[in-house]
Amino acid sequence: MSKVSVIGAGNVGATVANVLAHKDIVREVVMLDIRGDFAKGKALDSWQQASIDHYSTRLKGTEDYADTAGSDIVVITAGIPRKPGMSRDDLISTNAKIVSSVVASILKYSEDPIFIIISNPLDVMTYAAHKISGLPTNKVFGMAGILDTARYRAFLATELSVSPKDIQAVLMGGHGDTMVPLPRYTTVAGIPVTELIAADVLDAIVERTKKGGGELVKLMGTSAWYAPGAAGAQMVEAIVKDEDRIFPCCVKLEGQYGIDGVYLGVPVKLGTGGIKQVYELQLNQDELDLLNTSAGHVKAVMDTFDGMNLAS
Ligand code: NAI
Ligand code: 2OP
Repeated sequence: MSKVSVIGAGNVGATVANVLAHKDIVREVVMLDIRGDFAKGKALDSWQQASIDHYSTRLKGTEDYADTAGSDIVVITAGIPRKPGMSRDDLISTNAKIVSSVVASILKYSEDPIFIIISNPLDVMTYAAHKISGLPTNKVFGMAGILDTARYRAFLATELSVSPKDIQAVLMGGHGDTMVPLPRYTTVAGIPVTELIAADVLDAIVERTKKGGGELVKLMGTSAWYAPGAAGAQMVEAIVKDEDRIFPCCVKLEGQYGIDGVYLGVPVKLGTGGIKQVYELQLNQDELDLLNTSAGHVKAVMDTFDGMNLAS
């Protein structure tokens, strides 16, 4: 059974750990945070839930990286979330330093774990983790597409008054307002969504999805955690159980879609070892144009990260 470390025991990190414990698929989850005994408290609270909800996964909170030794998977949620009025990219100056130091500290105790990045700006923090770790690209990837697609599926389910379970969809691109929802690849129990929802209503849902994170920041004064945490745990599950699930994840593109060296959300197969395959959909020109715009945006922030000289 695997050992998973979750770095940052705040809203998202604590949710990843708690949802993962409920799945009862790993032996131990270590939660690490720099906030004094905070991670210890979160882990103890989750462990005290185990006899009620029937799981055996051990939870340990710590401030000491030695406790993460031998991790198979590391989920990074450390960093600051955005406040109303901020974009995800505004977080780079703080979070790039945090994510870079977390990756270096983890690698002192775990030889070649799989890294799942959640900290924002997501695509660039995934790039940073890959650059600092030097690990193969199939072992360093980011969570955003499952969340963004889940938001899209939730809005569609509300509009159609159906269960979100019956909505299949994929959303690509960067984790920001340039993300690329793909109505052409969206079905409701196999029925193309375009047969069920008028074009103008679908367009409005796509636009709401693109700004879905900001909508929650406005409502709560900080960013979301239930759906993001559950999405992170779902990625861990796919790897631990070697499920070969197909999810949109942030990965390094190496020529797919005509894009090279940029981290973007695309459909991948997730199982043992991390990413087993990157899928290249037959996008039409409009969709490719949107993806290229998104790639250009992410690349500019990747260049900002390079300018910070944290990886040298
Ligand atoms: P939070 O403020 O509740 O938790 C962040 C935690 O990181 C805090 O407990 C803090 O003490 C800890 N931390 C800060 N520096 C650290 C370090 N050097 N080492 C270890 N821990 C450290 O924030 P929340 O809501 O959990 O968000 C975390 C990050 O996830 C943010 O950057 C946010 O933007 C991002 N996020 C990304 C999503 C995605 O789809 N990729 C979705 C939701 C949030
Ligand atoms: C979200 O989309 C802020 O990235 C975070 O909720």
